[in-house]
Amino acid sequence: MVNKSESDSDKNPKVRFYKPERIKTGVPGLDNLIEGGIVKGSSLLISGGTGTGKTVFCLRCLWEGLQSGESCIYVTLEETAGDLRRDALGFGWDFEAYEKKGKFKFVEKNILEDTNFEFFDVDKMKASRIVIDSISLLSLVVEDKSSMRGRLQELVKSLKERNITTLLISESIDEEHLSILGIEEFIVDGVIHLKSMPMGKMAQRTIEIRKMRETKIDEGIHSMEFCKNGIKVVG
Ligand SMILES: Nc1ncnc2c1ncn2[C@@H]1O[C@H](COP(=O)(O)OP(=O)(O)OP(=O)(O)O)[C@@H](O)[C@H]1O
Ligand SMILES: [Mg+2]
Repeated sequence: MVNKSESDSDKNPKVRFYKPERIKTGVPGLDNLIEGGIVKGSSLLISGGTGTGKTVFCLRCLWEGLQSGESCIYVTLEETAGDLRRDALGFGWDFEAYEKKGKFKFVEKNILEDTNFEFFDVDKMKASRIVIDSISLLSLVVEDKSSMRGRLQELVKSLKERNITTLLISESIDEEHLSILGIEEFIVDGVIHLKSMPMGKMAQRTIEIRKMRETKIDEGIHSMEFCKNGIKVVG
């Protein structure tokens, strides 16, 4: 079936289509599954079980931003900044060099405590990509589900108003539960699910784009591998 906009454009080539600006994740093999990249200023949930590569995925994405001249922030509630610097350097990503230039910052703080962001320089740095690792820990400390929903919505909205692309890391226990409270996936614009399944003596790692607003997504489950330069989508 041809939808209205397609038939309009066939008859009238002057019909305009909105094409959002996209940013590259830098993960080889991923951007071409999502029309060239993540919609700039959108919010994504990076969901997966433990050790599935959520942190490495997000570090890669910020590293890509830094290579394009952007400023980026990694908010960590789990690992220390020192651990993350070392993890990243293992893949050749020297975040410390960008910290010295004032283009990058690790923040060890609870972001939901204060959503005006002044305390960690989002505005001063003109940050355009931010990671929060992880949102799951926050779900456990916020009093109730509706209060968490409100605070998360406020956070996502404030970052969107600043046109900052946001990656929220979330623990998923199984296929059906992408987050601890079951609300996080509804608030964000996109969900990427990382998995590691036993396959004989090896683990099979996969990546699936569960949703991505404004984007025609590839709906398959793709293999993902760790490599010298981080991670890559291989099939
Ligand atoms: N070079 C590598 N080759 C193979 N596997 C690797 C490599 N580097 C890391 N890993 C695997 O990735 C895991 C760490 O990835 P990462 O920290 O991104 O996962 P995570 O989903 O954030 O985990 P957590 O739930 O603990 O935060 C390691 O436990 C290891 O299994
Ligand atoms: Mg992690």
